[in-house]
Amino acid sequence: MADIEKAKQRALELTREIDRHSSLYYERAAPEITDQEFDALLRELRDIEEKHPGLISPDSPTQKVGGTVLAAFEQVRHLVPMQSLDNTYSEGELGDFVRRIQKLLPGETIPLTIEPKVDGVAIALLYENGRLVRAATRGDGTAGDDVTENLKTIRAIPRQLPDGAPARMEIRGEIYLPKKLFAKINEERDEQGLPAFANPRNTAAGSLKQLDSRLVARRGLEAIFYGYGAFEGTLPRTQSEFIELLRGFGLPVPGKLWQAQTTDEALAAIRELGIIRHDFPYETDGAVLKVDILAQRERLGATAKAPRWAIAYKYEPEQAETKLRDITVQVGRTGVLTPVAELDPVFVSGSTVARATLHNEEEIVRKDIRIGDTVVIEKAGEVIPAVVKVRTDLRRGDEVVFQMPAHCPACGDPVVREEGFVAVRCGNLHCPAQLSRLLDHFAMRGALDIEGLGDKVALKLVEKKMVRTPLDLFDLQLADLAPLNLGTEDEPHTFGEKNAQKLLNALERSKTLPLWRWIHAIAIPDVGAVTARDLASLHQDPAALASSEILRDIVRLDERTVPRKDVSKEEREFLKQEADALGEKLLAAGAATKSKSAKHPRDVNPAIGPVAARAVLGWFASDEGRRTLERFAQYGIHPLGEEPSSASASGEGPLKGTTWVLTGALSAPREEIAEEIRQAGGTVSGSVSKKTTYILAGEDAGSKLEKARALEVKVLSEAEFREMVAV
Ligand code: IVH
Repeated sequence: MADIEKAKQRALELTREIDRHSSLYYERAAPEITDQEFDALLRELRDIEEKHPGLISPDSPTQKVGGTVLAAFEQVRHLVPMQSLDNTYSEGELGDFVRRIQKLLPGETIPLTIEPKVDGVAIALLYENGRLVRAATRGDGTAGDDVTENLKTIRAIPRQLPDGAPARMEIRGEIYLPKKLFAKINEERDEQGLPAFANPRNTAAGSLKQLDSRLVARRGLEAIFYGYGAFEGTLPRTQSEFIELLRGFGLPVPGKLWQAQTTDEALAAIRELGIIRHDFPYETDGAVLKVDILAQRERLGATAKAPRWAIAYKYEPEQAETKLRDITVQVGRTGVLTPVAELDPVFVSGSTVARATLHNEEEIVRKDIRIGDTVVIEKAGEVIPAVVKVRTDLRRGDEVVFQMPAHCPACGDPVVREEGFVAVRCGNLHCPAQLSRLLDHFAMRGALDIEGLGDKVALKLVEKKMVRTPLDLFDLQLADLAPLNLGTEDEPHTFGEKNAQKLLNALERSKTLPLWRWIHAIAIPDVGAVTARDLASLHQDPAALASSEILRDIVRLDERTVPRKDVSKEEREFLKQEADALGEKLLAAGAATKSKSAKHPRDVNPAIGPVAARAVLGWFASDEGRRTLERFAQYGIHPLGEEPSSASASGEGPLKGTTWVLTGALSAPREEIAEEIRQAGGTVSGSVSKKTTYILAGEDAGSKLEKARALEVKVLSEAEFREMVAV
């Protein structure tokens, strides 16, 4: 084959691969390869195109900036395109960058700043006369998703800037999930036998793409800003002053900026940043070297893809090699057995690592990890130590293949492998390891927040067999609790009457906590805090969950949409019709959303995933579930859903038959007002459409109000609304 033919074929292959990985990265937030591997593919394609410019097509990934634009959000054009940065892994190329700008601005002193390259999700905020009017993702660089409502849930982002803000200012930055929160989420996922999220950036991207901003509010996202697009007003002279300006407005900015005049000074700053970055709350994947004086930037300009006044230096992900001494097994609160790598301590990404979760048996088999191996470790999201690969070339032959124990290491009961699931569980509901973790979970803040039930008390209650399931706590009396010895025989330390009473009071208080907290607390496998909230928003009380038609419909829809080959054409058609009907039903119940790209009702997104739906129904149908409901009644535990199910949404009342959208700052939390509307017979929706009857607009109403006006939907003030419900 001629050279050019070969090049053409390879370019085509690379384009397909890159597009696939781009879509995995940007749209599904589930990358299969590392940034380095992605960059290498892009570089190979760029090299081919440089040699054969005739092969460059306008659709080539080298001609695009970021991901593609999703259809589910409204699209907005950026006032100034959001460009990308040229990047390099080589210190030498930084020298080339400095020489290049010196050549372009001959004889001038060009001060540089160095700042962290935050590995988050790029965002542009538009402030007009100090008020936040719009937030958009990068999208394809020209237009992005309007995520204003989602961004408003991030506490660090001011909706109103203090006096003196420019007439119009579009600022650029990153949304990120703090490393610690990411670690916590993955810990929870491990506990539930769910696959871990790959890194904070993807988790943040996934959260931002939620159409329901309430889900975003729960994620704990943060933001940091470092640049601008459009700016109407007096621009500061330098980057450093610009960052100070943002800081003065109360916007989060990088904690430290370095100044440099020469390549060597820049390199020293980059190295220093390379060390301290591990202590930042956000993930960083590099340093950005920028021309400090904004007027010089103007004169340097930009290429089609990136500015000439900045370059990103990417740090290689830190890896370390160490010996895998052993694989131990931990028992989580849902009984899931998690294998843990016991390592020779080694320093990586800012701290010493001696243990790393191996998640599950499948992962060990997939990576062929054996006891005695030399392994390469890295921190996922710079926080969680992970074994990335094995140095099989260093094997000596005495390495031992790991076998998941057939019995629980804590109680000795046989373990259970559920078909189709990667997790292996201890089947003993009274397993002490499981139970004490279950009690910790039951009492923790996001669950029932039971003051006084610390680790020690929980362990003691388990040891003394005073508690065999969390609900046994409600049988405890002051006389049982007060004399508990939390110390040792030699150094006794009694729990005492006062603490015991506190614990009993906390238990009493918990009986009327919202439903989602209880769903979270009872630790149904595959149901985390976020799902618990979603379940609670669709159901009135625990009994409604146990017999939930919505959950059954979600499972049915899933069964009907699994592609199957063994069915006839007619049957497939019938299944499709059934699935469409189920999709419609779920939409009507407010238990699913439909993106603009969904062609059929069966393509809806149920609020609860089918795995969780099955888990909940299965759990309530089990002996444990049935017994739990009986005991709720026995102890007077009456958790209630925060929003009644949509069954009451279209009920009787003065607002019967009306659909409402709430926007802007109202006198009470939105959920409270939404609840009032539902109580009065109305329906509340998250987005404005032709079906919307009224918009209830508070202060600072943003894009929804604009859209309402465009669709000629009637806009009401809170006072007008009050009048209507008072009828
Ligand atoms: S300046 C014209 N500064 O990294 C683009 N970008 O890989 C100027 N990023 O598109 C961007 N930290 O989304 C700049 N301190 C920082 C940054 C930063 C992260 C992002 C940004 C950019 C991407 C390029």
